[in-house]
Amino acid sequence: MANGLRLTPEEKAMLAGEEGPGVQKAMEIVVALGQIYGAADLIPIASAQVSGVSYKNLGDAGLELLQEWAATGVRARVPAMLNPAGMDLWQWRELGFSEEFARRQQAVLGAYTALGITPTCTCTPYLVGFVPHLGQSVAWAESSAVSYVNSVLGARTNREGGPSALASAITGRTARYGLHLDEKRRARAIVEVHCPVRTEADLGALGYLVGRQVQKGVPYFRFSPSDWNDSAQALKALGAAMGASGAVALYHIEGVTPEAQREPMVAPDAPTIVVQDLAAAYAALNESGEGIEAIDLVSLGCPHASEEEIQAIADYLDGRRVKAALWITTSRTIRQRAEAKGVVARLEATGARVVADTCLIVAPVKELGFRSLVTNSAKMAFYAPSHSGLTVHFGPTERCLEAALSGRW
Ligand code: F3S
Repeated sequence: MANGLRLTPEEKAMLAGEEGPGVQKAMEIVVALGQIYGAADLIPIASAQVSGVSYKNLGDAGLELLQEWAATGVRARVPAMLNPAGMDLWQWRELGFSEEFARRQQAVLGAYTALGITPTCTCTPYLVGFVPHLGQSVAWAESSAVSYVNSVLGARTNREGGPSALASAITGRTARYGLHLDEKRRARAIVEVHCPVRTEADLGALGYLVGRQVQKGVPYFRFSPSDWNDSAQALKALGAAMGASGAVALYHIEGVTPEAQREPMVAPDAPTIVVQDLAAAYAALNESGEGIEAIDLVSLGCPHASEEEIQAIADYLDGRRVKAALWITTSRTIRQRAEAKGVVARLEATGARVVADTCLIVAPVKELGFRSLVTNSAKMAFYAPSHSGLTVHFGPTERCLEAALSGRW
Protein backbone atom coordinates (compact mmCIF):
# COMPACT_ATOMS: atom_id res chain seq x y z
CA MET A 1 0.00 0.00 0.00
CA ALA A 2 1.27 3.49 -0.79
CA ASN A 3 -1.09 5.86 1.04
CA GLY A 4 -4.24 3.90 0.22
CA LEU A 5 -3.02 2.91 -3.24
CA ARG A 6 -2.66 -0.88 -3.70
CA LEU A 7 0.48 -1.90 -5.59
CA THR A 8 1.44 -5.29 -6.97
CA PRO A 9 4.86 -6.75 -6.02
CA GLU A 10 6.21 -5.73 -9.43
CA GLU A 11 4.97 -2.14 -8.99
CA LYS A 12 6.44 -2.00 -5.48
CA ALA A 13 9.79 -3.14 -6.90
CA MET A 14 9.68 -0.37 -9.50
CA LEU A 15 8.89 2.18 -6.80
CA ALA A 16 11.72 0.90 -4.61
CA GLY A 17 14.21 1.47 -7.42
CA GLU A 18 14.88 -2.21 -8.13
CA GLU A 19 14.60 -1.54 -11.88
CA GLY A 20 16.84 1.50 -11.75
CA PRO A 21 16.38 5.22 -11.07
CA GLY A 22 14.61 5.98 -14.38
CA VAL A 23 11.80 3.50 -13.71
CA GLN A 24 11.67 4.59 -10.08
CA LYS A 25 11.15 8.23 -11.07
CA ALA A 26 8.41 7.22 -13.52
CA MET A 27 6.65 5.08 -10.90
CA GLU A 28 6.83 7.94 -8.40
CA ILE A 29 4.91 10.14 -10.86
CA VAL A 30 2.24 7.51 -11.53
CA VAL A 31 1.84 6.79 -7.80
CA ALA A 32 1.68 10.49 -6.89
CA LEU A 33 -1.14 11.00 -9.38
CA GLY A 34 -2.95 7.95 -8.02
CA GLN A 35 -2.72 9.36 -4.50
CA ILE A 36 -3.85 12.84 -5.53
CA TYR A 37 -6.92 11.45 -7.30
CA GLY A 38 -7.72 8.77 -4.71
CA ALA A 39 -7.13 5.78 -7.00
CA ALA A 40 -7.48 2.30 -5.47
CA ASP A 41 -4.77 0.76 -7.62
CA LEU A 42 -2.86 0.98 -10.91
CA ILE A 43 -3.92 -0.55 -14.21
CA PRO A 44 -1.86 -1.83 -17.12
CA ILE A 45 -2.06 0.28 -20.26
CA ALA A 46 -1.98 -0.80 -23.90
CA SER A 47 -0.21 2.33 -25.23
CA ALA A 48 0.92 5.84 -24.38
CA GLN A 49 0.90 9.03 -26.41
CA VAL A 50 3.36 11.61 -25.16
CA SER A 51 3.02 15.38 -25.58
CA GLY A 52 5.62 18.06 -24.86
CA VAL A 53 7.67 17.51 -28.01
CA SER A 54 8.14 20.95 -29.52
CA TYR A 55 11.33 22.68 -28.47
CA LYS A 56 9.31 25.92 -28.64
CA ASN A 57 7.37 24.75 -25.56
CA LEU A 58 10.01 22.64 -23.82
CA GLY A 59 12.94 25.03 -23.95
CA ASP A 60 16.38 24.03 -22.68
CA ALA A 61 15.09 23.06 -19.23
CA GLY A 62 12.65 20.52 -20.69
CA LEU A 63 15.26 19.17 -23.08
CA GLU A 64 17.79 18.66 -20.28
CA LEU A 65 15.20 16.85 -18.16
CA LEU A 66 14.46 14.43 -21.00
CA GLN A 67 18.15 13.85 -21.67
CA GLU A 68 18.78 13.11 -17.98
CA TRP A 69 15.91 10.63 -17.92
CA ALA A 70 17.14 8.98 -21.12
CA ALA A 71 20.67 8.76 -19.67
CA THR A 72 19.38 6.36 -16.99
CA GLY A 73 18.91 3.83 -19.81
CA VAL A 74 15.18 3.46 -19.18
CA ARG A 75 12.81 2.61 -22.05
CA ALA A 76 9.06 2.52 -22.66
CA ARG A 77 7.59 -0.91 -21.96
CA VAL A 78 4.38 -0.44 -23.98
CA PRO A 79 3.93 0.96 -27.52
CA ALA A 80 4.38 4.71 -27.14
CA MET A 81 4.40 7.53 -29.66
CA LEU A 82 4.90 11.27 -29.86
CA ASN A 83 2.69 14.29 -30.39
CA PRO A 84 3.68 16.84 -33.11
CA ALA A 85 7.13 18.42 -32.92
CA GLY A 86 7.98 22.06 -33.60
CA MET A 87 8.93 21.56 -37.26
CA ASP A 88 8.75 19.24 -40.25
CA LEU A 89 11.70 16.92 -39.59
CA TRP A 90 12.57 16.61 -43.29
CA GLN A 91 11.52 19.89 -44.88
CA TRP A 92 12.41 22.30 -42.07
CA ARG A 93 15.11 24.11 -44.01
CA GLU A 94 13.01 24.85 -47.09
CA LEU A 95 10.07 25.89 -44.90
CA GLY A 96 12.26 28.52 -43.22
CA PHE A 97 13.01 27.08 -39.75
CA SER A 98 16.33 28.19 -38.28
CA GLU A 99 19.35 25.89 -37.88
CA GLU A 100 19.38 26.72 -34.18
CA PHE A 101 15.76 25.66 -33.64
CA ALA A 102 16.22 22.55 -35.78
CA ARG A 103 19.30 21.45 -33.85
CA ARG A 104 17.48 21.66 -30.54
CA GLN A 105 14.31 20.08 -31.88
CA GLN A 106 16.37 17.16 -33.16
CA ALA A 107 17.96 16.80 -29.73
CA VAL A 108 14.46 16.50 -28.20
CA LEU A 109 13.58 13.79 -30.72
CA GLY A 110 16.89 12.04 -29.94
CA ALA A 111 16.06 11.94 -26.22
CA TYR A 112 12.56 10.57 -26.82
CA THR A 113 13.87 7.96 -29.24
CA ALA A 114 16.42 6.87 -26.63
CA LEU A 115 13.49 6.52 -24.21
CA GLY A 116 11.88 4.10 -26.66
CA ILE A 117 9.12 6.42 -27.85
CA THR A 118 8.28 6.10 -31.56
CA PRO A 119 8.63 9.53 -33.22
CA THR A 120 5.25 9.44 -34.98
CA CYS A 121 4.90 13.17 -34.25
CA THR A 122 1.18 13.29 -34.78
CA CYS A 123 -2.01 14.18 -32.93
CA THR A 124 -3.95 11.58 -34.96
CA PRO A 125 -2.04 8.37 -34.19
CA TYR A 126 -5.33 6.50 -34.55
CA LEU A 127 -5.07 7.16 -38.31
CA VAL A 128 -1.69 5.44 -38.54
CA GLY A 129 -2.18 2.18 -36.72
CA PHE A 130 -2.43 3.10 -33.04
CA VAL A 131 -6.08 2.18 -32.54
CA PRO A 132 -7.04 1.28 -28.96
CA HIS A 133 -10.15 -0.86 -28.79
CA LEU A 134 -13.38 -0.52 -26.82
CA GLY A 135 -12.82 -0.59 -23.06
CA GLN A 136 -9.01 -0.74 -23.30
CA SER A 137 -7.03 1.55 -20.98
CA VAL A 138 -4.31 3.77 -22.44
CA ALA A 139 -2.45 6.92 -21.32
CA TRP A 140 -2.68 9.56 -24.03
CA ALA A 141 -1.87 13.22 -23.69
CA GLU A 142 -2.98 15.32 -26.67
CA SER A 143 -6.47 16.65 -26.01
CA SER A 144 -8.02 15.98 -29.44
CA ALA A 145 -6.55 12.47 -29.55
CA VAL A 146 -7.77 11.84 -26.00
CA SER A 147 -11.26 12.93 -27.02
CA TYR A 148 -11.23 10.74 -30.13
CA VAL A 149 -10.08 7.53 -28.42
CA ASN A 150 -12.45 7.97 -25.47
CA SER A 151 -15.49 9.01 -27.48
CA VAL A 152 -15.28 7.53 -30.97
CA LEU A 153 -13.31 4.37 -30.13
CA GLY A 154 -14.61 3.84 -26.58
CA ALA A 155 -11.12 3.24 -25.15
CA ARG A 156 -10.26 4.82 -21.79
CA THR A 157 -7.77 7.54 -20.97
CA ASN A 158 -7.54 10.58 -18.81
CA ARG A 159 -6.13 13.71 -20.35
CA GLU A 160 -2.52 13.07 -19.40
CA GLY A 161 0.22 15.65 -19.20
CA GLY A 162 3.49 15.10 -21.08
CA PRO A 163 5.44 13.85 -18.01
CA SER A 164 2.62 11.58 -16.77
CA ALA A 165 2.14 9.99 -20.21
CA LEU A 166 5.90 9.40 -20.39
CA ALA A 167 5.89 7.92 -16.88
CA SER A 168 3.04 5.62 -17.94
CA ALA A 169 4.96 4.57 -21.06
CA ILE A 170 7.95 3.64 -18.89
CA THR A 171 6.00 1.80 -16.19
CA GLY A 172 3.23 0.42 -18.43
CA ARG A 173 0.74 1.63 -15.79
CA THR A 174 -1.67 4.42 -15.04
CA ALA A 175 -3.68 5.07 -11.90
CA ARG A 176 -7.30 3.91 -11.89
CA TYR A 177 -9.24 7.16 -11.58
CA GLY A 178 -11.26 9.56 -13.73
CA LEU A 179 -12.26 8.24 -17.14
CA HIS A 180 -10.94 4.75 -16.38
CA LEU A 181 -13.97 4.37 -14.08
CA ASP A 182 -17.46 3.52 -15.42
CA GLU A 183 -19.28 6.14 -13.35
CA LYS A 184 -17.03 8.98 -14.54
CA ARG A 185 -17.93 8.18 -18.15
CA ARG A 186 -21.57 9.08 -17.70
CA ALA A 187 -22.75 12.26 -19.40
CA ARG A 188 -23.37 15.25 -17.13
CA ALA A 189 -25.17 17.34 -19.75
CA ILE A 190 -27.49 16.60 -22.67
CA VAL A 191 -26.91 18.77 -25.73
CA GLU A 192 -29.84 19.06 -28.14
CA VAL A 193 -28.63 20.40 -31.47
CA HIS A 194 -31.43 22.18 -33.32
CA CYS A 195 -29.48 23.66 -36.22
CA PRO A 196 -27.71 22.20 -39.26
CA VAL A 197 -24.11 21.17 -38.52
CA ARG A 198 -22.73 20.08 -41.86
CA THR A 199 -19.11 21.06 -42.35
CA GLU A 200 -16.10 20.29 -40.16
CA ALA A 201 -16.02 23.99 -39.31
CA ASP A 202 -19.65 23.73 -38.13
CA LEU A 203 -18.74 20.76 -35.92
CA GLY A 204 -15.79 22.76 -34.59
CA ALA A 205 -18.01 25.78 -33.94
CA LEU A 206 -20.49 23.56 -32.08
CA GLY A 207 -17.64 22.04 -30.08
CA TYR A 208 -16.37 25.52 -29.21
CA LEU A 209 -19.79 26.50 -27.80
CA VAL A 210 -20.35 23.27 -25.89
CA GLY A 211 -16.79 23.10 -24.50
CA ARG A 212 -17.13 26.63 -23.15
CA GLN A 213 -20.32 25.66 -21.40
CA VAL A 214 -19.58 22.21 -20.00
CA GLN A 215 -15.83 22.76 -19.31
CA LYS A 216 -14.62 19.39 -17.87
CA GLY A 217 -18.01 17.71 -18.17
CA VAL A 218 -19.10 14.84 -20.41
CA PRO A 219 -21.75 15.98 -22.93
CA TYR A 220 -24.31 13.67 -24.56
CA PHE A 221 -25.36 14.94 -28.00
CA ARG A 222 -28.68 14.50 -29.74
CA PHE A 223 -28.68 15.65 -33.36
CA SER A 224 -31.58 15.78 -35.77
CA PRO A 225 -30.72 12.93 -38.15
CA SER A 226 -30.53 14.69 -41.50
CA ASP A 227 -28.82 17.85 -40.38
CA TRP A 228 -25.40 16.80 -39.34
CA ASN A 229 -22.17 15.30 -40.54
CA ASP A 230 -20.98 12.19 -38.67
CA SER A 231 -17.83 11.52 -40.71
CA ALA A 232 -14.67 10.61 -38.81
CA GLN A 233 -13.11 13.95 -39.75
CA ALA A 234 -16.14 15.86 -38.45
CA LEU A 235 -15.95 13.98 -35.14
CA LYS A 236 -12.26 14.75 -34.75
CA ALA A 237 -13.07 18.44 -35.33
CA LEU A 238 -15.85 18.34 -32.72
CA GLY A 239 -13.69 16.74 -30.04
CA ALA A 240 -10.68 18.96 -30.77
CA ALA A 241 -12.77 22.12 -30.32
CA MET A 242 -14.34 20.95 -27.05
CA GLY A 243 -10.90 20.06 -25.72
CA ALA A 244 -9.71 23.59 -26.51
CA SER A 245 -12.53 25.87 -25.34
CA GLY A 246 -13.22 23.54 -22.40
CA ALA A 247 -11.43 20.48 -21.13
CA VAL A 248 -13.83 17.90 -22.53
CA ALA A 249 -12.08 14.53 -22.81
CA LEU A 250 -15.14 12.38 -23.57
CA TYR A 251 -18.47 12.92 -25.32
CA HIS A 252 -21.26 10.64 -26.42
CA ILE A 253 -23.51 10.94 -29.46
CA GLU A 254 -26.86 9.19 -29.36
CA GLY A 255 -26.94 6.32 -31.84
CA VAL A 256 -23.36 6.90 -32.98
CA THR A 257 -20.55 6.57 -30.43
CA PRO A 258 -20.02 3.09 -28.94
CA GLU A 259 -20.84 3.81 -25.31
CA ALA A 260 -23.98 5.79 -26.18
CA GLN A 261 -25.50 2.42 -27.11
CA ARG A 262 -25.18 1.34 -23.47
CA GLU A 263 -27.50 2.41 -20.66
CA PRO A 264 -27.40 4.37 -18.47
CA MET A 265 -24.84 6.76 -19.98
CA VAL A 266 -26.56 9.94 -18.82
CA ALA A 267 -26.60 11.00 -15.16
CA PRO A 268 -30.23 11.32 -13.95
CA ASP A 269 -29.88 15.00 -13.04
CA ALA A 270 -28.09 16.04 -16.27
CA PRO A 271 -29.29 19.46 -17.47
CA THR A 272 -30.22 20.00 -21.14
CA ILE A 273 -28.42 22.58 -23.27
CA VAL A 274 -30.11 23.59 -26.51
CA VAL A 275 -27.99 24.88 -29.41
CA GLN A 276 -30.13 26.89 -31.82
CA ASP A 277 -27.38 28.28 -34.04
CA LEU A 278 -23.61 28.58 -34.38
CA ALA A 279 -23.31 32.30 -35.05
CA ALA A 280 -21.80 33.12 -31.65
CA ALA A 281 -18.98 30.64 -32.25
CA TYR A 282 -18.16 31.97 -35.72
CA ALA A 283 -18.14 35.50 -34.30
CA ALA A 284 -15.86 34.58 -31.40
CA LEU A 285 -13.39 32.63 -33.55
CA ASN A 286 -13.04 35.28 -36.25
CA GLU A 287 -11.19 38.55 -36.07
CA SER A 288 -13.71 41.34 -35.97
CA GLY A 289 -13.66 43.73 -38.88
CA GLU A 290 -15.56 43.90 -42.12
CA GLY A 291 -14.31 43.94 -45.66
CA ILE A 292 -11.73 42.02 -47.62
CA GLU A 293 -8.38 41.45 -45.98
CA ALA A 294 -5.08 40.17 -47.34
CA ILE A 295 -3.96 36.95 -45.63
CA ASP A 296 -0.63 35.20 -45.70
CA LEU A 297 -1.20 31.65 -44.41
CA VAL A 298 -3.98 29.11 -44.75
CA SER A 299 -3.77 26.12 -42.40
CA LEU A 300 -5.70 22.90 -42.89
CA GLY A 301 -5.07 19.66 -41.01
CA CYS A 302 -5.80 20.43 -37.36
CA PRO A 303 -6.11 17.73 -36.05
CA HIS A 304 -3.65 16.18 -38.49
CA ALA A 305 -5.27 15.44 -41.85
CA SER A 306 -6.27 12.00 -43.06
CA GLU A 307 -5.40 10.73 -46.56
CA GLU A 308 -9.00 11.38 -47.65
CA GLU A 309 -8.84 15.02 -46.51
CA ILE A 310 -5.57 15.58 -48.38
CA GLN A 311 -6.99 13.96 -51.50
CA ALA A 312 -10.13 16.15 -51.30
CA ILE A 313 -8.01 19.32 -51.08
CA ALA A 314 -5.99 18.28 -54.14
CA ASP A 315 -9.22 17.57 -56.04
CA TYR A 316 -10.70 20.93 -55.07
CA LEU A 317 -7.63 22.92 -56.13
CA ASP A 318 -7.44 20.91 -59.35
CA GLY A 319 -4.11 22.36 -60.47
CA ARG A 320 -4.92 26.04 -59.75
CA ARG A 321 -2.15 28.12 -58.12
CA VAL A 322 -2.52 29.44 -54.58
CA LYS A 323 -1.61 33.05 -53.79
CA ALA A 324 -1.29 32.70 -49.99
CA ALA A 325 0.84 30.02 -48.33
CA LEU A 326 -1.27 26.88 -47.88
CA TRP A 327 0.02 24.38 -45.32
CA ILE A 328 -1.73 21.05 -44.85
CA THR A 329 -0.42 19.47 -41.65
CA THR A 330 -0.39 15.72 -41.23
CA SER A 331 1.67 12.82 -39.93
CA ARG A 332 4.78 11.55 -41.72
CA THR A 333 3.04 8.24 -42.45
CA ILE A 334 0.00 9.86 -44.06
CA ARG A 335 2.25 12.19 -46.06
CA GLN A 336 4.19 9.23 -47.38
CA ARG A 337 0.99 7.45 -48.37
CA ALA A 338 -0.25 10.57 -50.17
CA GLU A 339 3.15 10.96 -51.80
CA ALA A 340 3.08 7.39 -53.10
CA LYS A 341 -0.25 8.12 -54.81
CA GLY A 342 1.05 11.31 -56.45
CA VAL A 343 -1.22 13.54 -54.33
CA VAL A 344 1.62 15.47 -52.71
CA ALA A 345 3.12 16.27 -56.13
CA ARG A 346 -0.29 17.47 -57.35
CA LEU A 347 -0.62 19.74 -54.33
CA GLU A 348 2.92 21.06 -54.57
CA ALA A 349 2.25 21.97 -58.21
CA THR A 350 -0.44 24.37 -56.91
CA GLY A 351 2.02 25.97 -54.46
CA ALA A 352 0.53 24.19 -51.42
CA ARG A 353 2.76 22.38 -48.92
CA VAL A 354 2.02 19.10 -47.19
CA VAL A 355 3.81 19.62 -43.91
CA ALA A 356 4.48 16.62 -41.66
CA ASP A 357 5.46 16.09 -38.01
CA THR A 358 4.31 19.48 -36.73
CA CYS A 359 1.40 21.84 -36.23
CA LEU A 360 1.11 25.59 -36.39
CA ILE A 361 0.41 25.93 -32.68
CA VAL A 362 3.61 24.25 -31.56
CA ALA A 363 5.81 25.54 -34.42
CA PRO A 364 7.47 28.97 -34.10
CA VAL A 365 5.32 30.37 -36.94
CA LYS A 366 5.78 34.02 -36.07
CA GLU A 367 9.51 33.63 -36.62
CA LEU A 368 8.66 32.36 -40.10
CA GLY A 369 7.13 35.73 -40.87
CA PHE A 370 3.44 34.80 -40.83
CA ARG A 371 1.01 37.28 -39.31
CA SER A 372 -2.50 36.27 -40.33
CA LEU A 373 -4.00 32.82 -40.47
CA VAL A 374 -7.06 31.30 -42.11
CA THR A 375 -8.20 27.91 -40.84
CA ASN A 376 -11.11 25.47 -40.91
CA SER A 377 -10.23 24.29 -37.39
CA ALA A 378 -12.00 25.80 -34.39
CA LYS A 379 -9.20 24.48 -32.20
CA MET A 380 -6.54 26.23 -34.24
CA ALA A 381 -8.63 29.42 -34.39
CA PHE A 382 -9.00 29.29 -30.61
CA TYR A 383 -5.28 28.90 -29.85
CA ALA A 384 -3.52 30.74 -32.68
CA PRO A 385 -3.95 34.31 -31.34
CA SER A 386 -2.57 33.49 -27.86
CA HIS A 387 -0.03 30.76 -28.71
CA SER A 388 1.28 32.00 -32.04
CA GLY A 389 0.37 35.70 -32.07
CA LEU A 390 -1.56 35.45 -35.35
CA THR A 391 -4.77 37.17 -36.36
CA VAL A 392 -7.30 34.51 -37.34
CA HIS A 393 -10.14 33.89 -39.77
CA PHE A 394 -12.16 30.73 -39.37
CA GLY A 395 -14.54 29.10 -41.83
CA PRO A 396 -15.39 25.97 -43.83
CA THR A 397 -12.69 24.20 -45.86
CA GLU A 398 -13.91 25.47 -49.24
CA ARG A 399 -13.89 29.06 -48.05
CA CYS A 400 -10.35 28.57 -46.69
CA LEU A 401 -9.24 27.15 -50.04
CA GLU A 402 -10.80 30.08 -51.90
CA ALA A 403 -8.84 32.38 -49.58
CA ALA A 404 -5.65 30.51 -50.43
CA LEU A 405 -6.39 30.91 -54.15
CA SER A 406 -7.18 34.62 -53.95
CA GLY A 407 -4.86 35.61 -51.10
CA ARG A 408 -7.85 37.36 -49.51
CA TRP A 409 -10.52 36.74 -46.89
FE1 F3S B 1 -3.03 18.65 -33.63
FE2 F3S B 1 -1.83 20.92 -33.37
FE3 F3S B 1 -4.33 20.89 -33.95
S1 F3S B 1 -1.55 19.15 -32.10
S2 F3S B 1 -5.07 19.09 -32.91
S3 F3S B 1 -2.69 20.11 -35.26
S4 F3S B 1 -3.37 22.33 -32.57
